Amino acid sequence: MQAVRHHPPGGTEKLKIALEDIPAIADDEVLVKIHAASVIWMELYWPIYQKEDGTFKTPILGEDYSGVIAQVGSGVPHDSGLEVGLEVMAFMSKAFPTERSIDGGMAGYAKAHFSHMVPKPRALSLTDAASVPLSALTAWQGLMVHAKLKAGQTLLVPGAAGPTSIWAVQIGKMLGARVIGTASSEESFKLLKSFGVDQVLNYKEVKLGSVLRNVDVVFDTVCGDTSREALKTLNKDGTLLHLVGKPPDDIGKDPRVNFFIVDMDAGQLTKIADLIDEGKLKPVIDSVFDFHDVVEAFKRGETGHAHGKILLRGPKV
Ligand SMILES: NC(=O)c1ccc[n+]([C@@H]2O[C@H](COP(=O)([O-])OP(=O)(O)OC[C@H]3O[C@@H](n4cnc5c(N)ncnc54)[C@H](OP(=O)(O)O)[C@@H]3O)[C@@H](O)[C@H]2O)c1
Repeated sequence: MQAVRHHPPGGTEKLKIALEDIPAIADDEVLVKIHAASVIWMELYWPIYQKEDGTFKTPILGEDYSGVIAQVGSGVPHDSGLEVGLEVMAFMSKAFPTERSIDGGMAGYAKAHFSHMVPKPRALSLTDAASVPLSALTAWQGLMVHAKLKAGQTLLVPGAAGPTSIWAVQIGKMLGARVIGTASSEESFKLLKSFGVDQVLNYKEVKLGSVLRNVDVVFDTVCGDTSREALKTLNKDGTLLHLVGKPPDDIGKDPRVNFFIVDMDAGQLTKIADLIDEGKLKPVIDSVFDFHDVVEAFKRGETGHAHGKILLRGPKV
């Protein structure tokens, strides 16, 4: 099969497509023939691939993906419903790498523990389903589990049209929160208005700390000075979800700041799939690239102006 491996350290110049063996599965694993994988441009720069001795792992990229089940391990419980031919979406949770979760979905096939995949939403194409797991789960876990956002509260989402944030916008509206989003482009403004965002601010024109007060929750995928400004707007018992790695000391010492890394949760992802099927949540796709255009796909992410998710089609094996 063809696979995209990243050979760190380095960026897109270190992406290589090579021919590899189709992975063999253990008893509790499932093999998926890949249809599409989501592109997380920051994945090229994550420190998790550096080993203790200073050398690097060379992972097959693609944290979350969609595809069709090709093989099911003998120990996979019957009541999981996972069977050959089922269309699924999966999330590796490579941020917590284990021996068996290290390779992702930018390949002809990928294997995962059975608990890392759920049937795709019926309402979505198999391509669009690849955009859901990591981003939607991040917003779900941030708002529902960590911040416990409630109806009537105010949610601030910097970079609200981005691939992860657009889910926070939708979950915030679904919960009955007042949602304030920032963006800089006409395309982003239109997208946010289409999701009913209550107030849209141009982050190039305003300083958050000067124009906002009484925010209850900040869902922050921008961080740095944006977090510093957002903290000025936050209620004293509010929560700032700091998504871009561990916060620097001056931000991290504030007890209102919460850093977490998304994890796979099949129950939550199934709930998200149900809400998509009910028309209450929907993915936003920025662009879909062919497998051999993987470098362009990551470069699109590196612009920092994607509106929704960037996807990479699976190879013709
Ligand atoms: N901790 C976790 O578990 C977790 C999970 C998911 C993601 N993340 C992290 O979240 C970060 C964001 O990733 P992403 O891929 O979702 O988004 P992204 O592609 O980095 O963000 C794109 C969006 O950001 C907006 N933007 C760009 N510069 C901005 C600025 N200075 N202020 C406000 N908005 C700005 C753009 O809006 P305009 O085009 O309108 O300017 C665009 O909509 C990454 O570092 C990723 O690793 C962490």
